Amino acid sequence: MKITVIGTGYLGAVHAACMARIGHEVLGVDSNPDRVSALAAGKPPFFEPGLDDLLSETLATGRLRFSSSLAEAAEFGEAHFLCVGTPQSTTSNAADLRYVKAAVSDLAPRLTRPCTVIGKSTVPVGTAQQLAERLRASAPAGDQVQLVWNPEFLREGFAIADTLEPDRIVIGTESPAGIAVMRELYEPMLAAGTPFISTDFATAELVKVAANAFLATKISFINAMAEVCEATGADVTQLAEAIGHDDRIGSKFLRAGLGFGGGCLPKDIRAFMARAGELRVDQALTFLREVDEINLRRRRHAVDLARICLDGHLAGRRIACLGAAFKPNSDDVRDSPALDVAAALQVEGANVRVYDPKAAEAGARDYPTLGFTATLDEALEQADLIMVLTEWEEFRAMDPTDVGRIVKRPAIIDARNCLDPQLWREAGWHYRGFGRP
Ligand code: UDX
Repeated sequence: MKITVIGTGYLGAVHAACMARIGHEVLGVDSNPDRVSALAAGKPPFFEPGLDDLLSETLATGRLRFSSSLAEAAEFGEAHFLCVGTPQSTTSNAADLRYVKAAVSDLAPRLTRPCTVIGKSTVPVGTAQQLAERLRASAPAGDQVQLVWNPEFLREGFAIADTLEPDRIVIGTESPAGIAVMRELYEPMLAAGTPFISTDFATAELVKVAANAFLATKISFINAMAEVCEATGADVTQLAEAIGHDDRIGSKFLRAGLGFGGGCLPKDIRAFMARAGELRVDQALTFLREVDEINLRRRRHAVDLARICLDGHLAGRRIACLGAAFKPNSDDVRDSPALDVAAALQVEGANVRVYDPKAAEAGARDYPTLGFTATLDEALEQADLIMVLTEWEEFRAMDPTDVGRIVKRPAIIDARNCLDPQLWREAGWHYRGFGRP
């Protein structure tokens, strides 16, 4: 099919390349001309494993192009995917829908032929219904323009595999015609046996935020257990392993540590609470406030532990902060726990040096006063304390003896519980994990 992908951020760029990969003719559209020219030249404007190769491969087939013209998109597409961002509003917990609304308002008057508009952005429940009405009212093709809501569940770092081999495909639609279009679009995935759930708009919108709320709750649950472990001398990593063997609980998303960040989980649970308030069911989601609070408490705990490790004084002490991205294999620093901690240490007077294999540039843009180093060794040099804040493979692979020769004091806080405590202690290090004795 001839499709367009409107908004080429982490979600849209990957979606566009993957749709071309499975045989569609794809036009990626973005209002940012720099992004369009980078993508057209096969250069992803962010780091996602495998995306550069996939872009080169699909651009070479001629099935993938990029443009900044919505008029061209309207002319070209039989199906239009909306992949624009829905960040947290600057003045409240609610989602900021201005980009979704602008995309629909700009596209609709240009839709003169029958087509399908497919929303992938994460939106508050009720948005799709409003957008469907707006489309019908302002598209010249009127009722011939149908809306489908198709939430996206991809994880950064695994975005290509998650798009090409999704766990499930969920679509919200008002008509059987919408189901047929989606079946055609995702034909290879359906042939591979991917579960396909067709429902109404509201359920499709809610599936996405419910999934993220559940995942956030699971992480905060284990981090709450970590707090209890810290008070009792128990080990949360063993506790997680033991409860994870119960199939009903499962072992995934039970890694205790610095908690969740990124462009999705934090803002999605807040927007969900805000929407529940508008719907007068805020009590149903009060627990998410606690989930958010437990998560943020872990960041403060990291700073407290650093102070304890440095005998009560952060001012003037050299701290190597390892990691800036919100998780490994990504250069995304949105709501990054790692940078939050680094900035808080700096505010308390510590001499902080941050190293991240991929996210230094993005980190320096958001935190211009933090010092970023080009190499791991530069960050480690003469450090009074090392803090592992993102579990990149480069940090997991560090040799405690080698690192011991570079730093000033052999003290390390493993805020992601990603190192082997025994190995580090045997090499003479003062090792502190999160929720571990
Ligand atoms: C998430 C959802 O997984 C995805 O389905 C949705 O579409 C978008 O939001 P993503 O933000 O890419 O994806 O990252 P994810 O792998 O889910 O991790 C989120 C955060 O939780 C990271 O900061 C990660 O470090 C943290 N995390 C994850 C933990 O602290 N412990 C865990 O056990 C798992």
